[in-house]
Amino acid sequence: MHAQEIDKAESNVSLLSAYGKYLLPVLTFRDIVLVRGQGCYVWDASGNKYLDLNSGQFCSILGHSNPGVARRMVEICQTLQHTDTSTLSAPVLQAARKIHDCAPEMNARTIFLSTGAEAVECCLKYAKHIKERPGIISFDRGYHGLTHGTAAYSLSRDKIRPPVDYSYETPAPLVYGDADDAPEIERCIERFREIVASDRENIAAAIFEPIISGGGFFFPPRRYFKAIRKICDDNDIFLIFDECQTGFGRTGSWFYYQQLECIPDFVVCAKAMGLGYPVSCVIVNGNTIAHVKFAMEYFSSHQNEAFAGALVSYLIDEIHAGDLLTINKHSGATLLATLTSLAREFPVIKNPRGKGLMCAFDLDTPGAADSKKAGDYFCRIAQDNGLLMQHCNFGKTIRLLPSYVAEKDDFNFFSAQLEKTLSHFQASLTPSL
Ligand SMILES: Cc1ncc(COP(=O)(O)O)c(C=O)c1O
Repeated sequence: MHAQEIDKAESNVSLLSAYGKYLLPVLTFRDIVLVRGQGCYVWDASGNKYLDLNSGQFCSILGHSNPGVARRMVEICQTLQHTDTSTLSAPVLQAARKIHDCAPEMNARTIFLSTGAEAVECCLKYAKHIKERPGIISFDRGYHGLTHGTAAYSLSRDKIRPPVDYSYETPAPLVYGDADDAPEIERCIERFREIVASDRENIAAAIFEPIISGGGFFFPPRRYFKAIRKICDDNDIFLIFDECQTGFGRTGSWFYYQQLECIPDFVVCAKAMGLGYPVSCVIVNGNTIAHVKFAMEYFSSHQNEAFAGALVSYLIDEIHAGDLLTINKHSGATLLATLTSLAREFPVIKNPRGKGLMCAFDLDTPGAADSKKAGDYFCRIAQDNGLLMQHCNFGKTIRLLPSYVAEKDDFNFFSAQLEKTLSHFQASLTPSL
């Protein structure tokens, strides 16, 4: 559809009723249609403005319609739109070098791909191939994508038909902070050890989100990952971190493994690194996996695209130039302080928590029969108050992954509108939800 057609269309309702039926109804879409974005805000076809608390799907981290991103995309479109898979471009080589410098602990080697799920698939394929074993351990509450292979190691694993063999679930530590001494940690380490012992000769790798996002926003502490790293080393198993959400600065370091002081064999990234375009990658630890191990060819149409290299290089330069790692820590602290303060006033907010610009809180709705319905209702009221927010964990948790360019005024707006949302939500909580 052309912009002109959108201008002529009167509203969200008219657009949805005219065109909605041509899309697959794979989920319940919002009842608004976005037509424009600028910085942390987006506008719908009826002219309403919203603060986008999740930078799209955690991707537009330098804001919507960022002029620098637009310039890079125009430049690359006008110079080198695409290459054949076995020919490299200068932007890709430069971006790989920059990632190497951001991840010095890993002596990093990178392949650029398109989506998070594609990168997880690629990573697991190599992990199994190199170890010559089929088994993968993952968190019971982890999320790694929706392809057959990635969903098999995610919380939706039960929906996969046929089930993928040699998929082992280990309990995620359900802790919110650096609770290094929680008995929960010991129990989870022990269970991981038992799984490895039960089928050592078949297990190639363990894959984890270092911050468990969709499964409830939990923060397994350093002690947990230190123990897991040792068990993996002792049993010749790869450790893979899925940093699709935590990678590229969101938590205040380039990668979250750097805060955990636990160096994995592979890191998978997506989302932020593409600035809103489909870019993902697998970063391999060149210190633990030799070049020669990648003798198995990987050949797909959109690997190592020039635009991916151009965007990643631009992002890394912008993070350096704007000191965004430090800024994200400060902005995250502001966001968390707002949530903590509102939690004192509104009992419906429980467990505000966060690391950098990755924050969440639980909705405490004891009277509600259906947590998903209650979460939907909360997000609906937030939308009516100008906030685009998302729930996860079956509606029980609201997560916030705003863009790195959110400023004081944006957080103040958020605080005021969230307060209104909470007042309304709390007053209208009924068992029918
Ligand atoms: C931790 C994690 N891994 C993998 C994925 C899959 O990424 P994509 O949706 O780009 O396939 C996601 C997406 O939400 C994610 O959050």
